[in-house]
Amino acid sequence: ENIFHGKSFLKEIDFTKEELLYLIDFAAHLKELKQKNISHRYLAGKNIALLFEKTSTRTRAAFTTAAIDLGAHPEYLGKNDIQLGKKESVEDTAKVLGSMFDGIEYRGFSQKAVEALAEFSGVPVWNGLTDEWHPTQMLADFLTIKEHFGKLEGLTLAYVGDGRNNVANSLLITSAILGVNISIVTPEKLFPEESLIDLANKYAKQSQAKILVTADIDQGVAGADIIYTDVWVSMGEEAAFKERIDLLLPYQVNQALMTKTKNADTIFLHCLPAFHDLATEVGEEIKEKYGLAEMEVTDEVFRGKQALQFQQAENRMHTIKAMMAATLGDLFIPKV
Ligand code: CP
Ligand code: NVA
Repeated sequence: ENIFHGKSFLKEIDFTKEELLYLIDFAAHLKELKQKNISHRYLAGKNIALLFEKTSTRTRAAFTTAAIDLGAHPEYLGKNDIQLGKKESVEDTAKVLGSMFDGIEYRGFSQKAVEALAEFSGVPVWNGLTDEWHPTQMLADFLTIKEHFGKLEGLTLAYVGDGRNNVANSLLITSAILGVNISIVTPEKLFPEESLIDLANKYAKQSQAKILVTADIDQGVAGADIIYTDVWVSMGEEAAFKERIDLLLPYQVNQALMTKTKNADTIFLHCLPAFHDLATEVGEEIKEKYGLAEMEVTDEVFRGKQALQFQQAENRMHTIKAMMAATLGDLFIPKV
């Protein structure tokens, strides 16, 4: 029996702690198979739709290569390619895609949309990022942490930056579920919603994770094993650049902040893409407009030996593969 069979992954709380840990370990196993060139075509003959309302490098590439390794056919349906959002509703789109595809990935703005896709398609739906959650990112992040430290429970993760975005929300709840101590270090204006902090505290009672939300950097990063940051302005919020820079500049992850952990073994993570040297088109604009050289993380930290963001990015593929194989495949998965 496969307890994951037919399930969607729309937000982290869809799975228990044991199920999340199972998927992380299963991903590590699939990573080993890939490295040894051992075939793992658990989804031969399946068709997978990849819906993207927002742009993506890692999530799209990970779903595509993972599907192909599993023997499935991935089909990219970008926002300008299909009727969804312009001429056709989520409900009608879901009914049509569900009759042809075996599984659907969705990246977009609204959490309601990904939930409606799951409700009306009748097939597993995987959230590839919404404004609220980034659950597949969490599997990769905690696999990377487990690979590095050999464990999860009892570690301390300090997320420094925009405390109200999808990645911050997901890290807060996932850490609380898994028993990883979590500090959200962010100015008061960007504190996570009260209801999310309550939810994290509820899970923390079970897992013993310590939850801290603070504007105080010294307190927030003390003892951290992991410093994690994300962009200050998420997709769809571009109008907020000036305000976010003013609020978040003191929270930039630089070498001085890294030493504030007072822990020589702290690692750095970032879900990417990152504004670490502003050598991109958008980066150049920011440099010119706001006179900045770097944003959420300095180039020095990004290129430093503590930085594991590219291992983390690769792990998107192995973890997404595990999630698709578990929810669509006919594998035997012991009760977890
Ligand atoms: N981390 C992440 O989701 O990257 P993409 O936006 O490139 O998919
Ligand atoms: N918070 C970022 C994450 C990108 C992977 C965004 O939503 O743009």
